[in-house]
Amino acid sequence: MTAPGVFDAAAGTYDQARRRLVPCFDDFYGTAVDLAVPPLRAAAAAGRTPRVLDLGAGTGLVSVLVGTAVPGARVTLLDGAPAMLAVAVGHLSARGIDHEIHVADLCDPLPPGPYDAVVSALAIHHLDDAGKRDLYRRVREALVPGGVFVNAEQVAGPTPALDRRYHEVWLAQIGARGSDAAEIAAARERMSHDRPAPVRAQCDWLRDLGYAEVDTVFKAWRFAVFTGTNPSA
Ligand SMILES: C[S@@+](CC[C@H](N)C(=O)[O-])C[C@H]1O[C@@H](n2cnc3c(N)ncnc32)[C@H](O)[C@@H]1O
Repeated sequence: MTAPGVFDAAAGTYDQARRRLVPCFDDFYGTAVDLAVPPLRAAAAAGRTPRVLDLGAGTGLVSVLVGTAVPGARVTLLDGAPAMLAVAVGHLSARGIDHEIHVADLCDPLPPGPYDAVVSALAIHHLDDAGKRDLYRRVREALVPGGVFVNAEQVAGPTPALDRRYHEVWLAQIGARGSDAAEIAAARERMSHDRPAPVRAQCDWLRDLGYAEVDTVFKAWRFAVFTGTNPSA
């Protein structure tokens, strides 16, 4: 089964476990929103409809946070799992957030922009490194000048020993938050599709691709939020 297929099958229970499985949930997603919001508000101040693309949007967690923070924003959600997007549509509609959905693969051409912000959470690590890099190239092309890319991501440790430590710490943290054996087994099954890369390498790719203002703004073990801006000139 593909990664979107695995998530599609789990769509009905996905939201319930989020805070247990992402121990740094508030800082992780909060940082992503803090990074995405300024160019969206700038677009609104300039009289344009702010536009944000959420890659691997799933049940719309990031889309809801960003759409709530910037009233009037139009959110475009892309995911390969239609059942996950169906849950997202419910969340967005209930909050009156303007949205459109695209059932597509992350390797497909992106929905037409341009976007003031492109965000992604816990999705791009399902691509191999060539796929990640190519997506980062296409994201920059889809951004307005001054637009921002934000990736809140699961990353690999910089060495095998640190990567093993990341995993041990995560297991201890989710156990302490009440994840039971079944939840951990299901998460592990989804993680068998993971191909995470170290955050430092991914920031280097962004710089190589011409992004400015590249930084890892938040990191807690395997959870990192990194960003780059499409330069204005
Ligand atoms: C862990 S979920 C994250 C969902 C959401 N961004 C969040 O933070 O809760 C990963 C999502 O990425 C999607 N995904 C993984 N690989 C994909 C691919 N190659 N193309 C499209 N979507 C993909 C899955 O279907 C799933 O909805």
